Amino acid sequence: MGEVFTSRLAGFHKKPLADRLGAIARVTHLSAAEMDDLRGDQGLTVEFANQMIENAVGVFSLSLGLGLNMQVNGRDYLVPMAVEEPSVIAAVTFAAKIVRESGGFVAEADDPIMIGQVQVTNFGDPTVATKALVSHKEQLLAVANSFHPSMVARGGGARDIEVRVLPAPEGARGEPLLVVHLLIDTQEAMGANLINTMCEGIAPLVESLTGGKVFLRILSNLADRRLARATCRIPVTALADFDMSGESIAEGIVQASRFAQADPYRAATHNKGVMNGIDSMAIATGQDWRAIEAGAHAFACRDGQYRPLSTWTLEEAHLVGRIELPLALGIVGGPIKIHPQVQAALKMLRVTSARELSMVMAAVGLAQNFAAVRALGSVGIQKGHMALHARCVAVTAGARGQWVEKVADALVTAGHVKVEKAREILASMMRDEPSPVTGT
Ligand code: MEV
Repeated sequence: MGEVFTSRLAGFHKKPLADRLGAIARVTHLSAAEMDDLRGDQGLTVEFANQMIENAVGVFSLSLGLGLNMQVNGRDYLVPMAVEEPSVIAAVTFAAKIVRESGGFVAEADDPIMIGQVQVTNFGDPTVATKALVSHKEQLLAVANSFHPSMVARGGGARDIEVRVLPAPEGARGEPLLVVHLLIDTQEAMGANLINTMCEGIAPLVESLTGGKVFLRILSNLADRRLARATCRIPVTALADFDMSGESIAEGIVQASRFAQADPYRAATHNKGVMNGIDSMAIATGQDWRAIEAGAHAFACRDGQYRPLSTWTLEEAHLVGRIELPLALGIVGGPIKIHPQVQAALKMLRVTSARELSMVMAAVGLAQNFAAVRALGSVGIQKGHMALHARCVAVTAGARGQWVEKVADALVTAGHVKVEKAREILASMMRDEPSPVTGT
């Protein structure tokens, strides 16, 4: 009998690696082979890499860790995160614990509707061309769907068209732009290939209906029909820390939110923090993280000014966090079937749909942002960050096993987290207490 599934694994970070893997195997029921895949020792082989991309010469790895304590819509999730930056995983885990104690995240997501774009030129009168396209909507949809009958059989496919006339970038002397949007339900896939195929497929009909010439036929990464949203509500009293009251911590977080709303320079950094969580999870789950990034930042600019993807307000003695962003994700297609570590990570995550994945990812982004603004609005991030950074510095200086922690602690105490200092400390510790540097 395995343990009940929970993402609350107290003391996990202090366990040796082997014990952590044991705990995960017990909680998730992943098989020994799947646990090997998760560990990544036999991850993506260079032979697979050679089939995935061109000019392959090897495989590039990143550290894989788990964001703990996540609870979204009453369900627990162990969040796989691939990232090189120390403190990202500790921060999300810490934030998720506070939110979980206040009832967890509540999240929702739109249907998986993606936008494909077909650019038309030389169409003559835009009103006439628009009318010709709109009046042949059913025919355009039928042609689009004929290129992917299996998606239609699964309940997805092209659903609607929209025609947009945009002013010429050159001003009055240029031809306005005519853009056909094909709205496609991609179900459990991110859908890039399907969308592009359908856009290319309808191009000849678009040309004959408008008498124009089609140029680009490609998906839009501004996937604003496929938004995910998450919220959390934390009693202000639960925020007290660092010898500070909950009210002052909440005030710092609200001020951080106001700063990001008013200033694109701050909003960019605020959103970088959000994307720390989202990208790490996206990479570990085999998503196209460049597409997610492009969509997130374009959405952040939707009213003409670059703004934060998440906000924090005080409401009836609670700190309320909200995030909304496009998340074009898939649980089928792309590298998901090929990459053994991605498959194991998705199985551990236990999501059954791309929508569910996007809800958890939105909550992870909000949790990541909470941890950052909580520290920034109070004691600053350097203290906590340096403690974690010190471990990397200790490793770079040659410390291994038991020495990593010891050297890192000494670096923090010395207030001087530098490789040279770490080498000095390591050498002096080993003189005083000689034992193999490669111990565990
Ligand atoms: C660092 O990776 C992310 C932060 O800069 C985010 C923020 O400033 O909100 C701490």
